[in-house]
Amino acid sequence: MASTVAIIAGAIIAIIYVSLRFLLYCTQDAREPPAIETDQYRLPIYTLRLPFQRIYVVNSTGLIPELQKQWRSVSFAAIAAAAGSVVGMSKDALRIMHQDLTSEHGFSVSWPHFIAPSMAPGKELDAITRRSVEVLSAEMESMRTQGGPVRTGLWAWSRQIMEAATTEAVWGPQNPYRDAGIAKAWRHASSSPPPCSNTCGTVATKLPREWSASVMSITMAYLVWVRTTLRAGELGNAFAVLSNTAPCAWWVLYHIFSDAQLLDEIRHELSAAVYEDENHVWHVDMARLLAACPLLLGTFQETMRYHAVNPGPRVILKDVVLNDGTLLKKGSILMIPTTVQHTDTTAWGDDADQFDHLRFSRTAGANGRKKPNRIAFRPFGGGQFLCPGRHFASNEILAVTALAVLQFEVVPVGGKWVEPTVENSPPQSAFPLPDEDIQVEFRPRDPKKAWDVTFSGVDQPMGIVSEDAVADS
Ligand code: HEM
Ligand SMILES: *[C@@H]1O[C@H](CO)[C@@H](O)[C@H](O)[C@H]1NC(C)=O
Repeated sequence: MASTVAIIAGAIIAIIYVSLRFLLYCTQDAREPPAIETDQYRLPIYTLRLPFQRIYVVNSTGLIPELQKQWRSVSFAAIAAAAGSVVGMSKDALRIMHQDLTSEHGFSVSWPHFIAPSMAPGKELDAITRRSVEVLSAEMESMRTQGGPVRTGLWAWSRQIMEAATTEAVWGPQNPYRDAGIAKAWRHASSSPPPCSNTCGTVATKLPREWSASVMSITMAYLVWVRTTLRAGELGNAFAVLSNTAPCAWWVLYHIFSDAQLLDEIRHELSAAVYEDENHVWHVDMARLLAACPLLLGTFQETMRYHAVNPGPRVILKDVVLNDGTLLKKGSILMIPTTVQHTDTTAWGDDADQFDHLRFSRTAGANGRKKPNRIAFRPFGGGQFLCPGRHFASNEILAVTALAVLQFEVVPVGGKWVEPTVENSPPQSAFPLPDEDIQVEFRPRDPKKAWDVTFSGVDQPMGIVSEDAVADS
């Protein structure tokens, strides 16, 4: 009896499976990117079929310029707009968010362009950067004057100082994060794993490598969508403004302090941009310093290349036909995962899987090395949908690193530096968070030294991403 049931159940499952496969086969247009189960590899773009949803994963840098030109149909704004309903925004608000999604006049498309000018090089960016540098410098001063080494977790410290500096700079005197309760709520939201991540993680480890990256990317795409949603409310602002800066700063600090030679070289470079006056006060103009330290800048860029994990989600709003005839169907999701772009050997060379702090600062093409393809460098997104906070974020991360390197020795309590695992990093984080913090001691290099840290101003972007590069490529 039991076996009859099993056979019938088996038969039903088999029939369902075959018909689903047939359905997938029938609904997959021959002109669409190949579905991944065809097992054809080295594809520039491929389709992942999920129930009721197709996801195109971009696997070639070559397709990016073409896709970015099609920004009306390959849309990031649509993700933000779709998200509005989840947070229970009013009908009117939703109507406005969905209006004119394919034109630069639509709300969801245009709002980032209203905030971008105030975050681009100029007086307003200088003002928030100056405030941030003030806070960073004051925090370090209070640590230097405690009369001895300060023990802390490197991640805990990075997060605390970056959140203090960023929120003071962006929110100003009304900064709501001065309230310990609000600050704590934010921490909880940004570092707790969402309920699905365990399951998704388990599924991902069981799939072939090529697939696990994609499955993780889907989880991430979903979470980015949630996070874009939240951006509609205050927690949403916090995600856009805060969620990437601290984890990124932590990785930069980790790479520099854990490598004695790199630390030495960067300290040397920084020291040349600092001067002592007749009263033995040491002066740093952070704006001039940042412009004079290519090694530090390159290490920051390489850290973002090596660790960024944002999935670059887009929605296809209208059928799109690519130059080679490939069809992208309306209603699908498209992803340009940084993890794929940042490890592409055709863009970065055979050592793409290695951390090389000189990759960006070395003269392009020197020592017979491949000149990196900057279109494949996407920590801040790209094209029409490029992070408007990138100049500010870069200023802050470079400033905290420069001050820490100039003023402290950072020594692991365990005796040596070990790169932490990141298996339990919450998928909403654009840079992986360490499973366990590294306990360190901050030892002031010269407690008696007095520092005067300022930020005069900058009128040119640093050229970190290709969109901002002047005569770079
Ligand atoms: C290292 C730090 C940061 C990184 C890596 C980062 C990265 C990104 C990425 C990848 C996107 C989405 C674009 C895409 O998917 O192509 C984005 C969007 C955005 N970021 Fe950042 N970001 C950082 C810091 C900041 C800061 C400090 C602010 C504000 C002060 C900010 C404000 C925004 C806003 C408002 C958007 C939405 C733009 C839109 O909807 O078009 N970001 N960021
Ligand atoms: C993605 O591109 C890489 C590098 O060309 C290739 O090895 C891999 O097979 C491609 N993935 C798919 C699914 O085609």
